[in-house]
Amino acid sequence: MGTALVTGASAGLGREFAGQLAGRGHDLVLVARDEARLRALADELSARYAVDVEVLAADLSDRAALATVAARVADRDRPVDLLVNNAGFGSRRGFVRGELAEEEAALDVMVRAVMVLSHAAGGAMRERRRGAILNVSSVASFAVMGHYSAIKSYVTVFSEALATELAPHGVAVTALCPGFVRTEFHQRAEMNMARLPDALWLDAAEVVRAGLDDVARGSVVSVPSVPYTALVGVLRVLPRRVTRSVASSLATRRRAGARRG
Ligand SMILES: NC(=O)c1ccc[n+]([C@@H]2O[C@H](COP(=O)([O-])OP(=O)(O)OC[C@H]3O[C@@H](n4cnc5c(N)ncnc54)[C@H](OP(=O)(O)O)[C@@H]3O)[C@@H](O)[C@H]2O)c1
Repeated sequence: MGTALVTGASAGLGREFAGQLAGRGHDLVLVARDEARLRALADELSARYAVDVEVLAADLSDRAALATVAARVADRDRPVDLLVNNAGFGSRRGFVRGELAEEEAALDVMVRAVMVLSHAAGGAMRERRRGAILNVSSVASFAVMGHYSAIKSYVTVFSEALATELAPHGVAVTALCPGFVRTEFHQRAEMNMARLPDALWLDAAEVVRAGLDDVARGSVVSVPSVPYTALVGVLRVLPRRVTRSVASSLATRRRAGARRG
């Protein structure tokens, strides 16, 4: 089954990836900042599924820590067969109202780390003529939802480009683009999601299952669930000025809702 390295494995989608991959017989390398959570998960998964689980605590916004993770990914003696670039976070504030340092950290974790780890994994996998990279992007990559959309559109387009480059060498690349998923994401970003209809929430286990099935199928862009597949289909053909104007009226409604409390 080989080894999978999952970033952001301490919570949410990453934790779910780790569980499902262990269930499919993969050994694991778990990456995130919270070492205690990673160790508890490693103990649980190795006991339940009899797989080897390594813990690599790292802040992916830190260049030295990222280089350590990249070296593990590229290690020829302990090959990583599946890289899951999943770590990430959101922000509740608009771009200019937020702290620049937070926006830079978002770029470091969701763009720079994805690029550096894909370079390490893609090079090693190309030599072995096998392997897969799954980059967790978002439906937001097709929309206009602040800096986050710009970041995730990098992830989607980068994954498509890398898939094209690596396909002739037996290496698959998939961008997983979920809509809203119940994880710690919104709570960590202090977003009030009370008004989001239940029908728009996705279940983390289903999103991860769909993503892994699409990796096995060799799909380059994976959008879990029928409603979000339809939404992305529309967003891909809608003139961008219409997408911008919908985004702008949604933002106005959100601000009015926040003022009303
Ligand atoms: N939830 C959604 O609605 C949704 C929708 C579309 C896409 N996504 C994407 O899905 C991915 C996973 O998010 P999630 O929903 O599972 O959120 P989550 O529950 O908050 O988990 C985020 C994970 O990322 C890790 N992380 C954050 N900053 C990090 C850093 N500097 N270094 C290393 N690890 C870091 C966290 O671990 P530590 O705190 O231990 O470091 C945690 O394990 C993200 O890329 C997100 O953009 C989420």
